[in-house]
Amino acid sequence: RKRTAILISGRGSNMTALIAAAADPAYPAEIVGVISDKADAAGLGIAAARGVPVQVVARGDFASKEAHDAAIDKALTKLGAEIVALAGYMRLLTTPFVEKWQGRMINIHPALLPLFKGLDSHKRALEAGMRVHGCTVHFVTPEMDDGPIIAQAAVPVMLGDDEAALSARVLKAEHRLYPMALRLVAEGKARMENGRVTLSGFVDNGDNA
Ligand code: GAR
Repeated sequence: RKRTAILISGRGSNMTALIAAAADPAYPAEIVGVISDKADAAGLGIAAARGVPVQVVARGDFASKEAHDAAIDKALTKLGAEIVALAGYMRLLTTPFVEKWQGRMINIHPALLPLFKGLDSHKRALEAGMRVHGCTVHFVTPEMDDGPIIAQAAVPVMLGDDEAALSARVLKAEHRLYPMALRLVAEGKARMENGRVTLSGFVDNGDNA
């Protein structure tokens, strides 16, 4: 099983979905640790309660972004992490860090990329009059929310949706999509090569959301 670390900043519901999937010994990834940049992230308590080692690496404890990312890198190395999963980690990572982990670091974004990169994706999808919306798991590259796409799930935008209703529908889809996408990466069925994703060895209808 591929040793996987999760980076969070807050609630940790995607983290919880990954921990739940990895509780099955047949799942190809094991969650070896959770690192948060925020001491008060609710996800820390959830992970600890499930027996996953947690640690806080707070930005405020370091003089620069580079030093902060270097400390996270050190923590990941200590955990023996082979894969890094960003799950609501709300901080841009520095280019040297991203380049070191490129092809081994994935992120979930609450929109159908390349639409609605960045914050407030649900609000902007509603403002744009979208009738579908969704979520994306992608390999992380230095540009924010820009890396090659591993898997996506679409949900309908319903008449009368507000941000809360739409984000709740997308979040449910995230919790199904992320464990599926991490599985593909851990099994080597989704690989990043020359800046693109190569998918192999699975049936698209069954395995892509
Ligand atoms: C999720 O919706 C995730 O897709 C989003 O933050 C939320 C975190 O929730 N991530 C981003 O916006 C990253 N650009 P969670 O902590 O409950 O998983």
